[in-house]
Amino acid sequence: MNIATAQARAKSKSKNKIDVPWRPQERQLTFLRACGLSHPFDGGGPKPPVAVFVGYGGAAGGGKTDSLVGVAVIAGLTFPGINIGIFRRTYSQLEGPGGIILRSQELMASWASYNGGMRRWTMPNGSLLQFCHCENENDVYNYQSQQFDILLFDEMTQFSGTQIRYLLSRNRATKNGVIPFAAGATNPGGIGHIFFKEQFVDPGEPEQVHNVEVEPGIFEEHIFIPAKLADNQILERRDPAYRKKLEAQPEDVRRALLYGDFDIFSGQFYPEYKKEIHVVKPFEVPAWWKRVRSLDYGLDMTACIWWAIADNGQCYAYRELHEPNLNLSKAAKKIVEMTPSHEYISYTTASPDLWNRRQETGQSGIEIMGKAGLKGLVRAKHDRIQGWRAMREYLEPYDVLTEDGDLVLDEDGKSRKSARMQIFETLPNFVKYLPMLQRDEHDLEDAADRPHIVTHINESARYFTMSRHPTDSKQEQLLFPKGTSAADAERIRTNMDFAKVYAKMQNQQQIRGGW
Ligand SMILES: Nc1ncnc2c1ncn2[C@@H]1O[C@H](COP(=O)(O)OP(=O)(O)OP(=O)(O)O)[C@@H](O)[C@H]1O
Ligand SMILES: [Mg+2]
Repeated sequence: MNIATAQARAKSKSKNKIDVPWRPQERQLTFLRACGLSHPFDGGGPKPPVAVFVGYGGAAGGGKTDSLVGVAVIAGLTFPGINIGIFRRTYSQLEGPGGIILRSQELMASWASYNGGMRRWTMPNGSLLQFCHCENENDVYNYQSQQFDILLFDEMTQFSGTQIRYLLSRNRATKNGVIPFAAGATNPGGIGHIFFKEQFVDPGEPEQVHNVEVEPGIFEEHIFIPAKLADNQILERRDPAYRKKLEAQPEDVRRALLYGDFDIFSGQFYPEYKKEIHVVKPFEVPAWWKRVRSLDYGLDMTACIWWAIADNGQCYAYRELHEPNLNLSKAAKKIVEMTPSHEYISYTTASPDLWNRRQETGQSGIEIMGKAGLKGLVRAKHDRIQGWRAMREYLEPYDVLTEDGDLVLDEDGKSRKSARMQIFETLPNFVKYLPMLQRDEHDLEDAADRPHIVTHINESARYFTMSRHPTDSKQEQLLFPKGTSAADAERIRTNMDFAKVYAKMQNQQQIRGGW
């Protein structure tokens, strides 16, 4: 047994010698050092963790799950009476073959006692290691009254950023001497991929501590320890064919699982989305730009986006409504209220099922919404695959050119990119949920409808792009401002520089909105 120092510190109630049949491999030791818990192997005593949140990530089979059990055991034996929580998203992931509970049994059964009902190990010195899960977004509140000195996440990218941040509020010292920290191990991919990448991978050099802004103005020290399959020689020797299996994967999956490359994301539906290309600072939308709304209605969520279409065809999402539990008339009223009277909305493309008659009332959704003041709804085309494809075209980055056709360069000399779809940064839900949309496992051309919260605003955007896409376009049916003469209309139609034409129009003072 090699956890001698830890063992010496444990006030063992057990008569048996504590025997933990585990020794870290080199990279696992790096992870233990980041957690301040390498003393059983490096000598000396425990040290403070180098950061409050340690990310350990990358390749499949890199030895991450084993390291979490290792850290939990060392921490528990080092600091008597502490609480350690290991989280996975679902219960079956904890329990299944190859799961962390089975592994903990191999390493702990001979010296600690397990309570299956509570899924909890009690170590001889009173430290607890508890296995936890939060399948639904709100399951984190089941841990509201608990406190974990050490909080560990396995496959952390399966959790949403909101869940992680909430659980961190449960991370605090219950005993003197222990310095609380959290650590998350994961492969790339999953709903929390971007969160993990932003918090651990993007801030800078791996294996260095970085001060990361986790909320506006709030900084936290993070460190990222990368893991590759080659770091786990025990597995490579035991199963040399495993590497071949990973090598046989498609390029992006291979890069993710073999090398732990976080820059690719096989599950992300729109990898072309980049904040710096698609998200822009808000500006005052010129009055003459055409405005459109897109609406995905459900009682669980009303997701409405207001769009303004620029002279050059770029579409700006400039306002959003993202609110649960609005009935049809409340949703309609809210959308009307949120649209100032000077904004002329050409049409509102909306979920096709609003046209179905409701059994209870005999009325359709659009009738109810119409009575509540929301008019001009157009039934959205519901071809999902075609719609997602159309949206992809709107997200496709292109080089920004000067009037003379030259590339516009950024400060770092790279060509500046833009895309037809642009989002004001003041739309938090659209900005958040667009990159979280996942591929459907069974149909790569379709987006997954889970987690459900992610889908609504994206469906709304899909309805919009379908309403403008060449296959089903409203583009040719420009609505000109009231009182536009035939000559003005013609000039507008043939002259792409709408702003100048508009400025010259005599009747512009009387116009409300655009076309
Ligand atoms: N230090 C170690 N001693 C003994 N076995 C180890 C050690 N590290 C890893 N292993 C074994 O190697 C295999 C893969 O390790 P582990 O499950 O920890 O990898 P992982 O990075 O969590 O993989 P995945 O990405 O698939 O979750 C497991 O069978 C594990 O028990
Ligand atoms: Mg694992």
